[in-house]
Amino acid sequence: IPVDSFDLVIFGGTGDLARRKILPGLFRRFRSGQMPAEARIIGAARSEMDDAGYRQMIRDAIAEFGSDEKNDAAGIDEFIERLHYVAIDATGEGGWHQLRDLMREGVIRAFYFSVAPSLFGALAERLHQHGIADDTSRIVVEKPFGRDLDTAKALNATLAEHFDESQIYRIDHYLGKETVQNLMAVRFGNVLFEPLWNSHYIDHIQITVAETVGVTGRGSYYDKSGAMRDMVQNHLMQLLCLIAMEPPSVYDADTVRDEKLKVIRALQPVEPHQIVRGQYEASQDGPSYREDAENPRSFTESFLALKCHIANWRWAKVPFYIRTGKRMKARSSEIAVVFKDLGHTIFEGDTARHRNILSIRLQPNEGMDLQVTIKEPGPGGMRLVDVPLDMSFADALGPDQDAPDAYERLIMDVIRGNQTLFMRGDEVEAAWAWTDPIIKGWEARNDVPKLYDAGTAGPEDAMMLMHRDGRRWREIKS
Ligand code: BG6
Repeated sequence: IPVDSFDLVIFGGTGDLARRKILPGLFRRFRSGQMPAEARIIGAARSEMDDAGYRQMIRDAIAEFGSDEKNDAAGIDEFIERLHYVAIDATGEGGWHQLRDLMREGVIRAFYFSVAPSLFGALAERLHQHGIADDTSRIVVEKPFGRDLDTAKALNATLAEHFDESQIYRIDHYLGKETVQNLMAVRFGNVLFEPLWNSHYIDHIQITVAETVGVTGRGSYYDKSGAMRDMVQNHLMQLLCLIAMEPPSVYDADTVRDEKLKVIRALQPVEPHQIVRGQYEASQDGPSYREDAENPRSFTESFLALKCHIANWRWAKVPFYIRTGKRMKARSSEIAVVFKDLGHTIFEGDTARHRNILSIRLQPNEGMDLQVTIKEPGPGGMRLVDVPLDMSFADALGPDQDAPDAYERLIMDVIRGNQTLFMRGDEVEAAWAWTDPIIKGWEARNDVPKLYDAGTAGPEDAMMLMHRDGRRWREIKS
């Protein structure tokens, strides 16, 4: 079903994100018929260029980054016709009249700020000053949304001068991933899980987001961020919220976000000994973090593991272990809900520890499996064995060639006016309020990350974080 017609202006329209993700994504939505044929996309950036030049740039970008479009560019000519370009001076006056003249009346106006946060204020102000944005317009902003609580508050305040919260779409692309939404479907669409979803039955929860890529090419950004700011404060925090939140009374933007916010606010401070920071060393396959980041004295973490607690009734004493890292042994993201041991066994001689584990795989091979205990087949008597009830979504439902990726889905949600999968300003601030003291602690102590070999599961200390508690991490495998 096509969304309503729109004019989407992408500030930073020639940038990396626009070329890699936003425009190839919009092309796919166009091809699937979701983007209305008369919708328009206006690239805006500093460089002088005409429509023809921009169209060629985006045609090339789609060929390079649109993966499956490489072989099948059907519809590309029609899509490219939908593109326009305006050379604009974000902090000056150049280009704004031209932009105003390009915008159509009576369609949804959306503005994607794919630029440095330092420009958000100037853009918001000029959009209003020139009568380009009004009360029904929407703006989309990217992470990093600040680098600590103060900067995030300042950004929220700047945006609030010109836009209402209901107009602001803060992207966390993890919320656009198919399986992330499935977390809510699994929890609240089944009778099986929710009654057990608490400290009476759950021993602990693990969240792993492991990547094989390093930071080559983006070291200057990453080295100032590290895994905490780049991944934990946003993506992993959002996963944690969806796993831990109370059932919202309805599935709508504010009700869901209210529940997520309560989780973040209930997170307890983390003690230094419950955190392991790591940095990858050089390997046969690639340089060290310090070489990638071009900073020979960097103490930035490319890996982080921590244990935290949510101080509320449901999760009393249930540890949440989370970890993420670059240059790890496989690209694999998983949430594992590990249930408690049985209190008593009736099977004589069975000394093994049997556990139900619900694992939700985000990527690759999205799916779920539930580890259950059954009798080992054969004549050996009542011997028990754990087996997975494994469901790959692609196997069960068939591969969906037209499934939107995270960005595509989220951009379409902006046009539909649905904020459920976007972060509200107070959520972002609460997340920084929790991470700030941790980061400040590292800075105060000059904390040095532990080195780990690229292609592994991270530093040994991360294993110890779990072993100390008599638990272990799930294996990282793709
Ligand atoms: C981004 C981070 O937000 O997410 C990157 O800045 C990271 O460092 C990326 O690689 C991971 O996203 P995905 O979708 O590939 O898991």
